[in-house]
Amino acid sequence: MIEEIYPRSFGDSNGDGVGDLNGITQHLDYLQTLGIDAIWIAPMYPSPQVDFGYDIADYERVDPQYGSLADFDALLRAAKKHHIRIILDMVLNHTSDRHAWFVESASSRDNPKADWYVWNDGVAAGAPGVTAFQKRFEHDGKVPPNNWESVFGGSAWEWVPARRQFYYHRFYRQQPDLNWRNPAVEHAMFGAMRFWLDRGVAGFRLDAISTLFEDPQLRNDPQRPGTNAQGDPNLSTRYSDNLPEVHDVIRRMRAMVDKYPGDRVLIGETYTADVADLDTWYGGSRRDELQLPMNMLPGFGWRAKFDAGWFRKTLEGAQTVPGQPLIVFDNHDNPRSIDRFGDGRHDVQRAKAIATLLLTSRATALTYYGAPLGMTTATPARKEDVRDPIGITGWPKEKGRDGERTPMQWTPGPQAGFSTNPRTWLPVNPNHVTVNVQTELAEPGSLLNWYRKLIALRRSNPALRDGDMTFLDRTDPDVLVYRRGGAHPVTVLVNFSGMPQKVKTGIVQRAVRTLAATDPALANTTTLDGATLPAYATWIVTPAK
Ligand code: NOJ
Repeated sequence: MIEEIYPRSFGDSNGDGVGDLNGITQHLDYLQTLGIDAIWIAPMYPSPQVDFGYDIADYERVDPQYGSLADFDALLRAAKKHHIRIILDMVLNHTSDRHAWFVESASSRDNPKADWYVWNDGVAAGAPGVTAFQKRFEHDGKVPPNNWESVFGGSAWEWVPARRQFYYHRFYRQQPDLNWRNPAVEHAMFGAMRFWLDRGVAGFRLDAISTLFEDPQLRNDPQRPGTNAQGDPNLSTRYSDNLPEVHDVIRRMRAMVDKYPGDRVLIGETYTADVADLDTWYGGSRRDELQLPMNMLPGFGWRAKFDAGWFRKTLEGAQTVPGQPLIVFDNHDNPRSIDRFGDGRHDVQRAKAIATLLLTSRATALTYYGAPLGMTTATPARKEDVRDPIGITGWPKEKGRDGERTPMQWTPGPQAGFSTNPRTWLPVNPNHVTVNVQTELAEPGSLLNWYRKLIALRRSNPALRDGDMTFLDRTDPDVLVYRRGGAHPVTVLVNFSGMPQKVKTGIVQRAVRTLAATDPALANTTTLDGATLPAYATWIVTPAK
């Protein structure tokens, strides 16, 4: 089980209101008690924090607000004692505009780093085919060379007077895209990865990995109907995303990483439209690219809903990928799953069902800090409180990602035990009075204890660890039933409905022993005959001897 940690929000050791590396070190006991094998730490490198760390100004140091390299090494050592490995976030697509490489690159057209970023002269504002959108970004009679848009709104091209040229930025304008067609860029970035591998990190989560390359001809992305939250035309990203060249880079990267001992891992931020598209990220039949491209479909697919049929389809789909699946329901870019899958009344019960899917599927499980507690999304109510720039430019349609990044809730006390400073960088969610580690550890029926139970079961049970996954009922609209195979198979039953559901006994062995159940009444039930699953209940059983 991997947990993503947002370092600004996990633990504040020095009382400045912002989380830091020592704050993670201080909470390793909790992570170990929960059963976490590895943590992925969102970027903690020096950064102007425009995109809260995803704009990196130096790949080989720690941002002073998070600590020092010595603190990082201390965290690595302490984590090792807790049997927890550390995975770093590696942002290869772009740097900060304050990175020394970009400062040099932007200074003239003929400096040594002139070709490290994606520069273009633009086209005359009156040239044929120039769109109204491009015209909005005119400088000195020149407009961007095409209609490409920043994910965060507006044109993806920014004018630099010193070069009288535009540079390309898929994300904020403070995040210029590196030019991966220049071998010096690959050399430098692989060097940065080696810097951390040499220190002992277990691998990387590769940010925005599908976007390293752009069409050399800079063709316009096809337009789709309507406008996005920022008011710009909707586009398909045919010419600015998923170019095949990225796979050559990943293959070389994997070969580089594989030279290190101790099973280092490459995880990819791979949003795909279809599960079959994950195949190329594993490297197809060669399997020489990412070990763990993220399967975002069960959790974030655009049709995702709290529904047995949806999860049957997407979790079955996850079994068709050529390598080990990696399932994700929560991250720092999306409202928390407890809110997306909740109905406002049975949110914790539903979150237990999601936890069951995450931890009993044949897949590596990735969770996000606070998800095992049921921390909820606390989106700012007023524009002036928003910190994420996309929420400022997109307000009110797009309120940004602050809601899923609020401080970790450790205790019912001041600042939820996150910080001694009442001015935390984002407000602490008032629900910390009940939703917090201390309180939930003491409640046998809490979501946190359900996570702990499932993780412990998964670690100790060979079928849940390695067994294949077979769906036993293909049609039931309310109940999902699947078996994890092996010498001692395990059957998982999850009721997705708000009504009790009778177990269909034709499909599973009847005499059973309960391994885990959300409802105490099920725990002592020894047969599936006549058994009923209460609303939203999970029941995990194995054949009685
Ligand atoms: C994906 C990251 O998860 C997101 O937080 C970030 O804004 C973009 N990539 C740009 O790095």
